[in-house]
Amino acid sequence: MSEPAWQRVRDLLERETPGGVVAVRGWVKTARHAKACSFVEVTDGSGVAGIQTVMDPSLPDYEDQVRRLRAGCALEVRGELAESPGRGQRFEIHAREVRVVGEVGDDYPLQKKRHSFEFLRTIGHLRMRTNTLGAVMRVRDAAARAVRGFLHEQGFVELHAPVITASDCEGAGELFRVETEGDEDFFGRPAYLTVSGQLQAEIGALALTRVYTFGPTFRAENSNTSRHLAEFWMVEPEAAFLELEGNVDLACRMLRSVCRRILEECEDDLRFFDARIEPGLLDTLQGVVEGPFERLTYDEAIAILERSNRSFEFPVTWGTDLQSEHERFLTEEHLKRPVVVSDWPASIKPFYMYWNDDERTVRAMDVLVPRVGELVGGSQREHRAERLARRMAHCGLRAEDYWWYLELRRHGSAPHSGFGLGFERLIQFVTGMANIRDVVPFPRVPGSAEF
Ligand code: 4AD
Repeated sequence: MSEPAWQRVRDLLERETPGGVVAVRGWVKTARHAKACSFVEVTDGSGVAGIQTVMDPSLPDYEDQVRRLRAGCALEVRGELAESPGRGQRFEIHAREVRVVGEVGDDYPLQKKRHSFEFLRTIGHLRMRTNTLGAVMRVRDAAARAVRGFLHEQGFVELHAPVITASDCEGAGELFRVETEGDEDFFGRPAYLTVSGQLQAEIGALALTRVYTFGPTFRAENSNTSRHLAEFWMVEPEAAFLELEGNVDLACRMLRSVCRRILEECEDDLRFFDARIEPGLLDTLQGVVEGPFERLTYDEAIAILERSNRSFEFPVTWGTDLQSEHERFLTEEHLKRPVVVSDWPASIKPFYMYWNDDERTVRAMDVLVPRVGELVGGSQREHRAERLARRMAHCGLRAEDYWWYLELRRHGSAPHSGFGLGFERLIQFVTGMANIRDVVPFPRVPGSAEF
């Protein structure tokens, strides 16, 4: 069998030169056995579209092999590229050689009909073979490269933050404890899976000026929602000599750049999502690329919600966190676009945020987007030693547990800021997928860690 097929097929398709001999390897998407021949659509997962192959009885083993082909079989096909008389594709391959590499059992669960996403989650070992999950995985890959590309261009250095830590960055107590079987004290102290790479990123930023972490983070929050995972990936840029306004600007430019790159690179996949999953998706993304983000302070957001005359399930009062229904009202109904909400009550935000002079609010900012709600959470950090110590005491944290974090404020401290972008929520936003469990290869949620 000759070498990698799909690129060559694509090249041929692009140059529209029928007659060339091509070879493809992949899996049968659909097989239709007509009287005179078989039509077998093959895909290798590199794009939404498969390629139609036509197999006729002159092929060796036609009856034994070809007629038995069905969805899921792995195979190699070699043949000539020809203009297709059929509808739905311009080209097809007239097979000259077919080799079945792997057959499928009778109980192969992926049939031509549409399966529910709930069902597909129970077959995590096969679901990436579907159009939707395949497209999600390709967009996810492109998004990761788009994020890294943008940050690289802005001079950010990737810092590999540890997965095992001893600190609870967000202070919410949603920690997974790490211990070995039979030895709870492996690290000489309690250790946990990280909830955020931010504190380490701050160390990096106060040496390298601009760093980012991009890795898995873990939260033991018992939320069974369409926006929460127990294990999710987060991108966390952190920059020295940057205050809140610069941080907001960085987050908005990053989102715009990432959307632009994905629109460019994943045109076919996004068209598929626009047609099948979320009508209007392409316009929304184009709007993010072109339009400005709204800006509100937390006070303004609360005032809008109070004036809305909506009966929200969770009442709106100053000092409470925004719930999903509030985020959606602001972004989907009131503003109809992404919005940055800044200057939040200190009482509902973590210890590390810069205290405004009123000592009631902190320099925090969240980016909210339609459908997904909170996509980014960040802040300017408290870099003043005395204020930080007081704020930590306020939050009930022990100074000795964070001695190094406090010490950074005594040795060359500088204003600095950063944010965390929830990577799966970004993928939800750019694909239109409703449930976060369907935009991560292997979701981890309360009660489930299969595959
Ligand atoms: O707002 P969060 O908790 O912020 C932090 O962790 C900061 N340390 C980030 C920083 O400033 N460097 O989380 C940031 C983002 C949220 O906006 C959300 O998009 C996502 O992470 N996120 C989750 N995504 C999936 N499942 C969960 N359980 C998530 N919790 C937060």
